[in-house]
Amino acid sequence: MSDRLLEFVAAMTRLVDLPQGVPADEATMLAQAAPLMRHLVARDDWLPDAMAASHPQYYQQHLLYGDPLDRFSLVSFVWGPGQKTPVHDHTVWGIIGMLRGAECAQRYLRAADGRLRADGDELRLEPGDIDQVSPRIGDIHVVRNAFADRTSISIHLYGGNIGRIARHVYVPETGESKAFVSGYSNALVPNLWARGAA
Ligand code: FE2
Repeated sequence: MSDRLLEFVAAMTRLVDLPQGVPADEATMLAQAAPLMRHLVARDDWLPDAMAASHPQYYQQHLLYGDPLDRFSLVSFVWGPGQKTPVHDHTVWGIIGMLRGAECAQRYLRAADGRLRADGDELRLEPGDIDQVSPRIGDIHVVRNAFADRTSISIHLYGGNIGRIARHVYVPETGESKAFVSGYSNALVPNLWARGAA
């Protein structure tokens, strides 16, 4: 793998070490982290093969790096053919960068009656594209692989340790929610200092 992942982690660590911190100024964090994500997914030559592994039944969430102080985490989401999430929230800010294949995301808003309704059109992300979520700008969505016959991979950056955060899945028709903690699919994280071909 190239130094791209190490450079991203170093840049994010410098960012969260700034006095404004996380999550004191979420808008600033999103604005400053977005160009880092754009740079990270501008090339698809750095993700270790193990972090690109799909599962026949479940989409995979491979932890690439977790800040030891839980100020941010970086995850590769690997969508097998046709795989999708339930409708869910995050409770922290997030930036999604498309690396390989394509995915489609549909936002939801909570209506006055408590039910969720689709907010705008489905957004399709192609390699190099980014999307953002947060409790402030819209935190509830459903995401799916755009392809029924191939794997897609997006890289997700969150303003916390997303695999350990208590958040929610929703039934849009009723507005019913259920708490969940996603955890991660992998037991081992990448060597940021590895050399050689991806
Ligand atoms: Fe999400």
